[in-house]
Formats: sequence, C-alpha cells, structure tokens
Amino acid sequence: MIKGRIAGTGSTTPKRILTNKDLENIVDTSDEWITRRTGIKERRISSSGQDENTSDLATKASLKALEMAGISPEDLDMIVVGTVTPDRQFPSAACLVQKALKASKAVAFDVSAGCSGFLYALFVADNAIATGNSRKALVIGAERLSSITNWEDRSTCVLLGDGAGAVVLTPTTGPDGILSTHLQSDGNFWNLLYSYDEASKIPEILDTIEGKPFSLRMEGNRLFKKAVVCLSNIAAAALEHHGVSSTDIRLMIPHQANIRIIKAVAKKLCIPMDKVYTNIQRYGNTSSATIPIALDEANREGLLRAGDYVLLVTFGAGLTWGASVVNWSS
Ligand code: ACO
Repeated sequence: MIKGRIAGTGSTTPKRILTNKDLENIVDTSDEWITRRTGIKERRISSSGQDENTSDLATKASLKALEMAGISPEDLDMIVVGTVTPDRQFPSAACLVQKALKASKAVAFDVSAGCSGFLYALFVADNAIATGNSRKALVIGAERLSSITNWEDRSTCVLLGDGAGAVVLTPTTGPDGILSTHLQSDGNFWNLLYSYDEASKIPEILDTIEGKPFSLRMEGNRLFKKAVVCLSNIAAAALEHHGVSSTDIRLMIPHQANIRIIKAVAKKLCIPMDKVYTNIQRYGNTSSATIPIALDEANREGLLRAGDYVLLVTFGAGLTWGASVVNWSS
C-alpha cells in the first residue's frame, strides 16, 4: 500500500517579538495572568514591508523543507496550504507560494479548517499520494493572525501569533509514513470561535502591523472544555486504529493553544509531558502553523528517529479536530 512519508520539514517565524510585558502596554493584562492561564511568554508578529505576509512565511518554511528533502520546487506536483489568514481572499496563498517557488508543475490550493488547517491539508495530500495523483507534495500551515486580531480584546489578543511550517511528502511502500489521519468537524459550534467584519484599532506600539477589516471572537471557556474532550478522544481513536499504545509514542505534537489544554490531554492519554513537544511559550497560538512549526523544531533538535511513532493532534474553529499517527522516516 502506498502512503505519504515526511521527507523534509521547515519552519519560520517573523523577526518581531511581542512579549507579555509589551502586551501590558496594550490591554489590561499581566505577564503573570498570561503565563499562568496559557503558558505563553511571547509571540512573533509580522511587520508590513518585511516580506512577512502569510505567503512569504509559507515560502520561507517551504524552502527549508524542500532543502531537507533534497527536492527542487520544479518537481512538486501539489502545494496545499492550511490557513485562515491568506494574504488575500483570493487568489489562494498556495498559488502565491507556487509563484514564489517557481513550482510550475504543482496544482496549488488552500484548505480552510481553523487551527486544524495543517492536518486537513496533510490528509488531502496524503490521500493524493496514496491514489497515485501526487508523488511530491508540499503541505504548509501558515498564518498571520496578527492581521485579524482584535487588539482591544484582552481575552484573545494575548493568545495569538504569526508563523509558518511546512513538510514535503513523498510516497513510501515501507512501514514508515503517515499511518492515517482521523478528522472530525461539528458546525453546530461554529459560534465558539469566528471572524467578524469589524476593523479593530491597531495600538501605537504595533504600528508596523497591517490590519484587515475583520476580527476574531472566541468563547474561551467553552472552547477549552470542548478542546480537551475532542483532542483526547480523537487521539485515542487514532492510536487504537493502529494498535499503537500511548507508551509506544515517542513524541506527541499537539496544537499549541493553551498549555493547560495540552497537559490535560496528555494526562488523559497517559503520555508523560517529557514526550510532549511544546513551544507555545515562544510563539503562542499560530493556528494552522503550530503543528508544522513544532514538528520541524523537534526534527531539527534530533528528537525523532526512524521508526518512532509521532502523534499529531489538533483542534480549531469550525469546530474541527483531528489526529494523525506517523511512523517517522529516516
Ligand atoms: N488578562 C487578564 N485577565 C484576563 C485576560 C487577560 N488577558 N483575559 C481574560 N481575563 C479575565 C476575564 O475577564 C475573567 O475575569 P472575571 O473573572 O473578572 O470575569 C478572568 O480573567 C477569567 O477569564 P476566563 O475566560 O474564565 O479564563 P480562562 O481560564 O478560561 O482562560 C483562555 C481564558 C486562556 C482563553 C482559555 O479559556 C483558553 O485557552 N481557551 C481555549 C482556547 C482554544 O483552545 N482555542 C481553540 C483554538 S484557538 C484558535 O484556533 C485561534
């Protein structure tokens, strides 16, 4: 059976760091509150005129992933970007990445699935590989959430950041690769997290941000509870599907929305925190980009060896959620 294997990973974040202390000058909050309630210490924010738009970040992350995979952009036949903050409503971020990479043979499109965009995109590309429709696919999670953040809403603006991560998928018939991706959605809860059409005032200390005329609204408390249940259940189902027990997992890479959510899910799955990769402290919630950034960092830190089981779990607006079990490739 043919399935996708991860042949290379890459990631990037904007240069500008916005600390919790900086946020104290923007909204009524404190480093102590943000750290205790979320685990976040700082996040990266794109600056206009610095080539840090969503497609710019996606392109930079992709070049690193392609270099690691030893694949040239001209050989790509598919580019899928998970994002809720493409540069423009259309064309897709994926087409802008295709142009920047000069990947002329690739079919390129975006997937919109809230913070779960990367796993949904991975699912699409992996299936294209399994059916023989793709042999070299680029899968990206990229966001510039700062452009749609309501900077007057302390309950959300402290959580979000910008960044991008990418993986290159190639076919394998061996034991390695993406064993499967389980996805779920429930539109009944769309109004727990959504964008709305109203420009928010960009604070003076962030005058390098280019805002868009829509913002973000979230019912954090209810989402928190849904996230813990959905993430734990789908991760357990994905593991059971392959007869993989939680003790077999080398590394769990969860969506980085809140350290308390991550700890609660790890506890429910009986996965100790030293087997859970977190970088929420440095980047906050970068939506579709959290998992591919964390995966790339873990990979480059040498935490993954051939044959290791890696569990990817995600949750986001929609609601959408999912889990993927990967047998790491050499
Ligand atoms: N600084 C100081 N106080 C704050 C802040 C802040 N930044 N934000 C909220 N508060 C206050 C509230 O006003 C409230 O005050 P009150 O008790 O006087 O009314 C108090 O802190 C507690 O607020 P809660 O909302 O109950 O705090 P909670 O512990 O739930 O933490 C949080 C809020 C961090 C948003 C949490 O609910 C959360 O992480 N939810 C899940 C988010 C998530 O998973 N999202 C899914 C994906 S996100 C995405 O896709 C973009």
